[in-house]
Amino acid sequence: MNSKEYWNNKIIEWEDSMHGASHLSFIERLASYFRKPVLFRNKTVLETILPLVDGKVVLELGCGSGYFAFDLCKNSKVKKIIGLDISEQAINRAKKLSQEMGLAYQCEFYRIDAISAQLPAADITVGMGFLDYLTAEEIISLFKNIRSPYIVFSLTERKFSILRYIHILYLLSQRCPKHFYYTKKEWLGFLAGKFGEINFIEDKRLSFACVTHNLPTNPKV
Ligand SMILES: C[S@@+](CC[C@H](N)C(=O)[O-])C[C@H]1O[C@@H](n2cnc3c(N)ncnc32)[C@H](O)[C@@H]1O
Repeated sequence: MNSKEYWNNKIIEWEDSMHGASHLSFIERLASYFRKPVLFRNKTVLETILPLVDGKVVLELGCGSGYFAFDLCKNSKVKKIIGLDISEQAINRAKKLSQEMGLAYQCEFYRIDAISAQLPAADITVGMGFLDYLTAEEIISLFKNIRSPYIVFSLTERKFSILRYIHILYLLSQRCPKHFYYTKKEWLGFLAGKFGEINFIEDKRLSFACVTHNLPTNPKV
């Protein structure tokens, strides 16, 4: 199974497990108990970029069904958010939800492999739970293609954590074709100084993940 097939089969149930759906498989019902850090990391990214996005274009890599995009539109005066995802299922649902919520004029969603795509220009590029599924070479090539001055990404760290070992078992049980944990040092190496000073947001509620960005502390992008 390749990444595209994996995510096409997985993403809807994976997302539903965090939004209280009742039709989940046993393993996803079980996994949902461990997904609070995922919701918290998306909230952290949202709160981090909110003061900076009014009138701006945001690009989201691995946008899933657009839940982050919708929260961003509802809570800011963002000009536009462009979401890219490899899964057709996710992009179809994102388009449908954006129509239903009356947010289609602000949201664009495209089914695309962000690794091989020419990325659109944006003011800020974000990605949550996205880098974890890319090899080091893919991340390096991706960051050469990013055409925004600012980036915000979540990073699942390769560090000791019981929850991380449970996560590995989950990924094995689901036959996830590729998944990686990186250290902060590796991450800084991938960026090779391209994005200037990089900051890390750490919080126990993020579990073995952190949020990394190069946003200015003075909120004027
Ligand atoms: C763990 S999910 C995270 C979804 C969403 N960002 C969130 O936090 O709720 C990873 C997402 O990345 C997408 N993805 C994985 N590899 C991709 C690629 N090469 N190009 C675009 N999207 C990709 C998957 O389809 C999936 O929607």
